[in-house]
Amino acid sequence: MKKYRAVIGLVFVLMCFLAACSPQKDAAAAVKSVSSDTVSVQVKSVSGTEEETTVTQVAEPSEKSVLVAYFSCTGATKKAAEYAADLLGADLYEIKAAEPYTEADLNYRDSTSRTSLEQKDASVRPAISTGGLMGQDTSGSTDLSLSEYDVIFLGYPIWNGQAPRIINTFLESYDLSGKAVVPFCTSASSGIGLSAENLKGSCSDSAVWYDGIRFGSAVSADDVAEWIHELDIPGRQER
Ligand SMILES: Cc1cc2nc3c(=O)[nH]c(=O)nc-3n(C[C@H](O)[C@H](O)[C@H](O)COP(=O)(O)O)c2cc1C
Repeated sequence: MKKYRAVIGLVFVLMCFLAACSPQKDAAAAVKSVSSDTVSVQVKSVSGTEEETTVTQVAEPSEKSVLVAYFSCTGATKKAAEYAADLLGADLYEIKAAEPYTEADLNYRDSTSRTSLEQKDASVRPAISTGGLMGQDTSGSTDLSLSEYDVIFLGYPIWNGQAPRIINTFLESYDLSGKAVVPFCTSASSGIGLSAENLKGSCSDSAVWYDGIRFGSAVSADDVAEWIHELDIPGRQER
C-alpha cells in the first residue's frame, strides 16, 4: 500500500514536471511497472510519441509490521487481542478451529470432553480453518501470509495450565524464523506458567520469544495498554 502511495506521489510529481516543461501542458504519464526500488513510467509527449523513463524510488524508512494472532472460545482473549491490535495499529488474525469447540467440548470438568482429551495428549494438532484475517474477504483461501510480519503477538486462553493444542498447530503451520513472538494469555486464575515456554518446540529456533503476560478473563483496555506501553519491541509503532 505504501509502495503504491509512493508511486502515485512520484507520478504526480513527474506529471507536474512535464506539465511545467510543456508549453501546451498536455503531457500524460502512466505507471508501467514497479519493482523493489524502481518505477517505470510511460510518458506521452506533446508530439504524441511515447517515451519511457525509469525513476529510482527514494527508500522508505523500514517499519516493522505487527500481527496480533489469537485463539479464543469465549471471548476473553479476543478482547485482549483487539485492544492490542488497536493500540499497535496491527493486523488481527483469529486462529479459528476447523471444527469449532462446543460448550460440551469446553467442559474441563468432564475428563472425557474434547478439550480434556486434547490437553492430555501433547501430540494432538486440531486443524485451523481459513478466513481468520480480520477485515478481508479471504474465505476459502489460504489467508495468512506470515512472511509480511516481523512481530507476532500470540494470544490464547489457558487450558489445563497450557496453551490449547491449536496454538501448536498454528506455530507449526508457518515459518517464524527470525520473527519476534510476544505471547499473552487469559485465564480464570492460573498464571502463564510454562505455557509459552512449552510452545517453543513448535516454532523455529531462530524466533525471538518475549516474556509473556497473563490477563484475567475480565481483561480491560487499560490492562492491555499498560502492558504494551512497557514492552520494548524493536520497530514497534504504537498509536
Ligand atoms: C477447557 C478449559 C480449560 C481451562 N483451564 C484453565 C486453567 O487451567 N486455569 C485457569 O485459570 N483457567 C482455565 N480455564 C479458563 C480459561 O482460561 C479462561 O476462561 C479464559 O479467559 C478463556 O479465554 P477465551 O474466552 O478467550 O476462550 C479453562 C477453560 C477451558 C474452557
